[in-house]
Amino acid sequence: MNEQQAGQRIAELIRELNEHNHRYYVLNRPTISDEAFDHLLHELEQLEKLYPGLADSNSPTRRVGGDITDKFEKVPHERPMLSLSNTYNEEEIREWEERLNKLTGHPLEYVMELKYDGVAVSLLYEKGQFVRGLTRGDGTVGEDISANLRTIRTIPLQLRGHFPERFEIRGEVFLPRTVFDDLNRERAAAGEEPYANPRNTAAGSLKQQDSAEVARRKLDCYLYFVLGDRLPFDTHFESLTHAADWGFKAPTSANRLVEKTTTIEGIMNYIRFWDQERFNLPFDIDGVVVKVNQMRLWDELGMTAKSPRWAIAYKFKAATVSTRLNGIQYQVGRTGAITPVAQLEPIFLAGTTVKRASLHNADQITKLDIRIGDHVWVEKGGEIIPKVIGVDHTQPRGSQEHHRYISHCPECGAALIRLEGEALHYCPNERNCRPQQVGKIEHFISRRAMNIEGLGSETVAGLYDKGLVQNVADLYQLTYEILIGIEFEAEDEEGGPPRKRSMQDKSVRNLLQGIEASKAIPFERVLFALGIRHVGETVARKIARAMGNVDAIAAASAEQLMTIEEVGEKIALSVRSWFSDPDNRDLVDRLRESGLRLSSDTEVSEVLSTALVGKSIVVSGVFTRFSRDEIKAYIEQHGGKVSGSISSKTSLVVAGDDMGPAKRQKAESVGVPIITEEQLVKLVESQPREQTT
Ligand code: IVH
Repeated sequence: MNEQQAGQRIAELIRELNEHNHRYYVLNRPTISDEAFDHLLHELEQLEKLYPGLADSNSPTRRVGGDITDKFEKVPHERPMLSLSNTYNEEEIREWEERLNKLTGHPLEYVMELKYDGVAVSLLYEKGQFVRGLTRGDGTVGEDISANLRTIRTIPLQLRGHFPERFEIRGEVFLPRTVFDDLNRERAAAGEEPYANPRNTAAGSLKQQDSAEVARRKLDCYLYFVLGDRLPFDTHFESLTHAADWGFKAPTSANRLVEKTTTIEGIMNYIRFWDQERFNLPFDIDGVVVKVNQMRLWDELGMTAKSPRWAIAYKFKAATVSTRLNGIQYQVGRTGAITPVAQLEPIFLAGTTVKRASLHNADQITKLDIRIGDHVWVEKGGEIIPKVIGVDHTQPRGSQEHHRYISHCPECGAALIRLEGEALHYCPNERNCRPQQVGKIEHFISRRAMNIEGLGSETVAGLYDKGLVQNVADLYQLTYEILIGIEFEAEDEEGGPPRKRSMQDKSVRNLLQGIEASKAIPFERVLFALGIRHVGETVARKIARAMGNVDAIAAASAEQLMTIEEVGEKIALSVRSWFSDPDNRDLVDRLRESGLRLSSDTEVSEVLSTALVGKSIVVSGVFTRFSRDEIKAYIEQHGGKVSGSISSKTSLVVAGDDMGPAKRQKAESVGVPIITEEQLVKLVESQPREQTT
């Protein structure tokens, strides 16, 4: 096959794959098997590898991601992205409709559609090709997130049929509920905090720098608003039909995702239908949008302060229900914070059976005068955890007495304390209260902290109970001999008696490798991992950057700390109190001896070994154990040099998933060995260790 033939075949494959992609993801009517699809995709990948010059940024092979964006470029919107005026009140919808009738002097046509609870995006198409996609930003300037949007299968990269030469289309990116639930199940298994709701998770996903990570998130996108000059339709309803014809996932009349009416009854009927039915949708909506159908009236009706007069959003109230409060359970978190949790008579609310709900804190319980045996109002908003919002006084009261908040820790019995100005009670017995210790270790190893893989909640609890890991410094003392064959109790998923599980060769190696790799984690994340109360990711980063190293932080006064951005008195005092504890200082010393990065300096102190001295190393693709910055830091810490391009001087290429075809070809042609990230870690560990600090 010559280059020209290859070009033709590539074009043909792209057309076919786009067609199947549309049938599968947008229409839900695939006409070939997954296997046949993969086969075509593989053929295209091979051709693009052979002829890198022919690769197209809108090729279906790009959907898996791999592009890394360091900083999202700010781009002005050609037309501002407006917001909608909204109301929770049916009466205001009636008034809106009457006002429009008066303004225009005749009855109007309305289109009702769902108000998708996701992240607004604006996509630009030219000659049927996806050009770029922006976030809303402040409505005037957005951020270019094109690489991430390309991974969303329902966003067409190439359009079908007869489309305008150039136009924008706006819509909402969202995370389907099942995908969200799966993601949280995975996080729970890894001992990580669950994500709060699908909307925030979708927003966070779209801002990921690594598009391969975005591809894994399985985002989806509804498009509902076409903008451009000389568009081939006069009504909003038609615009949606056209958008669907061009290959977009646009709402259609099927399943009442969109509907037309000329009457206020028609509008109300639609609103009431979806207020009930919304829980049966596979994604979250937070209301209904009503729009004037005739587009020529849009300019005529004009704008209020920042929203158009031709549209209005009706927002649903959060779902509430009343049920009996059977008891209050107190949970102890890793910082010792006590959170009261309502034990409810199980009740069906917004699509799920609710048995537990948040009660916030002692003040809230007192303020609402919540008593055991009361019927309480439970509300489910955007968050996954429902909350108790008050007592249902239409029902007889429960207990005669006010509820008495606990005074002692339910886990270790220590007397609880409550700091001035804080809402929560704390168990001060940090060192000997099991959930606090186990929670601290779980936090330390979590993905955003030290990212130590191969350690689930049960293993951490098991290691703690066996006395093998009492604090995070003990992790670095673990050896193969200690771990191999030890037994843990694992909870049975079906609720049966716990099963015995023992550590086998592979999981032991995996764990030790994860622990070793964590030594390359930058100082700001180590500081976050220590789990100092009130020191979250951002604050840790600010403190680490301002102070430079752990000794400076330990020596700083509260006043000095408070000169750092985002550090107020509460945080400063918490940092002071943490470092004034001799046990904590001892912990820091032990972590230092184990080789963790306790300083942001890029030179002297961070060299951990000389295993890679004299080696010029190129990294390419996406890694699972390291982020790109981490793998570069790891190489440098072990004496290697990271270089951007492959040449005959390159000693090694470390390839992750989706290493670019051009790079692979280049490495092969100059005969540079290509290794995986695991092989890199092994290579480092197989060298005799030489401490240079
Ligand atoms: S129309 C000028 N339609 O709600 C009107 N917006 O508060 C442009 N939204 O920024 C928006 N579903 O992110 C429209 N069916 C829908 C919508 C919708 C959700 C969001 C959108 C917008 C916000 C306005």
